[in-house]
Amino acid sequence: MSHQDGLNRRAFLRNAGMTALVGAVGTGSSVATVAASAAFGAPDANGKYDFDTPYNRFGTDSTKYDQPIRIYGKDSIQVGMGIADMDFRAAPAITKALMDRLQHENWGYLDMPKSFSDGIVSWNKRRYNINVDPELLVITTGVHPGLIAALKTFCPPGSKVLLNTPTYNGFYGDLTYTGTRAEENPLKLVNGRYSIDFEDFERRISHDTNAFILCNPQNPTGNCWSPEDLTRLGEICLRRRVVVLADEIHCDFVNKGSKYTPFATLPNKAVVNNSITFKAASKSFGLAAMKCAWFFSDNADYIARVKANNRPDLTTMGMIASRAAYSGGEDWLNQVGTYIDGNHDFVEKFFAANIPLIKIAKPQGTYLAWLDVRQVVDKINAKDLAAEASKKQSASMKALTPEQMVERWFVKNAKVHMNAGSSYGYGGEGHMRMNIATSRKTLELALNNLAAALKNSPLSSAV
Ligand SMILES: Cc1ncc(COP(=O)(O)O)c(C=O)c1O
Repeated sequence: MSHQDGLNRRAFLRNAGMTALVGAVGTGSSVATVAASAAFGAPDANGKYDFDTPYNRFGTDSTKYDQPIRIYGKDSIQVGMGIADMDFRAAPAITKALMDRLQHENWGYLDMPKSFSDGIVSWNKRRYNINVDPELLVITTGVHPGLIAALKTFCPPGSKVLLNTPTYNGFYGDLTYTGTRAEENPLKLVNGRYSIDFEDFERRISHDTNAFILCNPQNPTGNCWSPEDLTRLGEICLRRRVVVLADEIHCDFVNKGSKYTPFATLPNKAVVNNSITFKAASKSFGLAAMKCAWFFSDNADYIARVKANNRPDLTTMGMIASRAAYSGGEDWLNQVGTYIDGNHDFVEKFFAANIPLIKIAKPQGTYLAWLDVRQVVDKINAKDLAAEASKKQSASMKALTPEQMVERWFVKNAKVHMNAGSSYGYGGEGHMRMNIATSRKTLELALNNLAAALKNSPLSSAV
C-alpha cells in the first residue's frame, strides 16, 4: 500500500467510522446476509486466505468494539485493541459446518459426539506431540469455568494461588469467584525481557498455597517458557505439593524463532502428573463466544476430583465450531499465525520509527503487544489525572490508576482502545496491552492515530 493509499484509507475510515468495510453486520441483519458474501472467506486460487481486508465488527455486540462505544459514546473509537480476540473472518471450515447445522431447526440437548474428543486427541498429537488420554479429557464451557472447577477442588477459600505477574487479568476474577487469594511472583525484567524469579517463586509458597496458575505462552508479556523454566517450576511445585494448572490457550501464536513447550510433554513424568492443562480452539480460531474448551491430565485422581466440580453446559454451536476448526482449519490457522507474526514486526518497526515515547519488545508469542508507556504516564500527568478522577467517584469504588487514565486518553485523542496494564497485577503499572490480531490496514490506522495523538494533542488535556 502506497503512502497516498494509506492517507486516503485513513480519511475514508475516519469519515466512514469503518461502517462501509467488508462484512458489516448491522444490528438485526440476518446470518444469511453474511453467508452470501464471498463463500465463507474462502482462500484465493493460491490457497491464501485474506486477512488484509478489514472486517467490520461494529454493531455486533462485540466486547472489543461495541463495549467501548457503549462506555465512551458514539464514534468514540475507530479501532478496538483490547480484549483478546481476533478481527478476522472465521476459517471457512467453521462457518460451513455451522451453516450446515443451522439447516436443522432443533436445538435440544447435546450428546457430546466421540468425533469431537477424537478430534481434540489427534490435533494435540499431530500438532504438539501431546498424548491426551480420552478417558482423562474433560469438555468444559471455557478455560475460566475449568480453572474455577480446579481451584474449587484444590484451594479452600482463603488459601493462596501462585501467579507470575504481570499476568492475565481474568485469573484474578477466577480467584475472586473461588474466594482464594493471589500470591504474586513478579517476573524479572532484564533489558526489556521478562524472566522468572525462581527463588522468589519458592519463597512465596507456604502451608496454604495449593495451586499455581501457569500461563504459557504468557498473557500479557508473550513469553514462551522454555522446557528448563517449566521443569524448574514444575519441580518446585511437586516438592512443595502445589498443583500446576497450565493455561495454554495461546499456544498457537508463536513467533519465528520461538517455541511453545506443552507442560504435558516435559520429560519428568512426576512433574507432568502433578498438572492439569487447559486449552481450547477459542483463542486460536476466534471462537471465544462459542463457549467451548477442555482440560486433561495424566493424573486420573486429579481429573476425577475436578470433574466433580465441573458442570459442562455445552453448546451445540460451540462443539461444532471447535470440531470443524480441528478437522478443517489447520491451514487457516498456520496462515493467521504467520500474518500475526508479521503484524508484530510491523508494530515493532512502527513504534521505533514513529512513537519513541512508547517502548516495546517483540514478544515470543500471543497476539498481544505489551507497551511500556511510562513516559506517556509522565507526559499526560496521568497520576494527577487519576487522583482527580478518583475523587469524583463514589468512595466505595476502587481508586483509578494512571494506566486507566492513559486508556481514556488514547480513546479520546486517538480513538483507539487498549487495556490498562494496572489490571494485570504487580508489574503491570506503566504498561498497556495492545491486541494486534487485526488486518494490517486497521493496525496501521491505529498506530498512525496513536502517533498523531502523541505528537499533536495537548498532552495534559483532561480525560
Ligand atoms: C490466558 C487466558 N486464559 C483464559 C482466557 C479465557 O478463556 P475462556 O474464554 O475459554 O474462558 C483468556 C482470554 O483472554 C486468556 O488470555
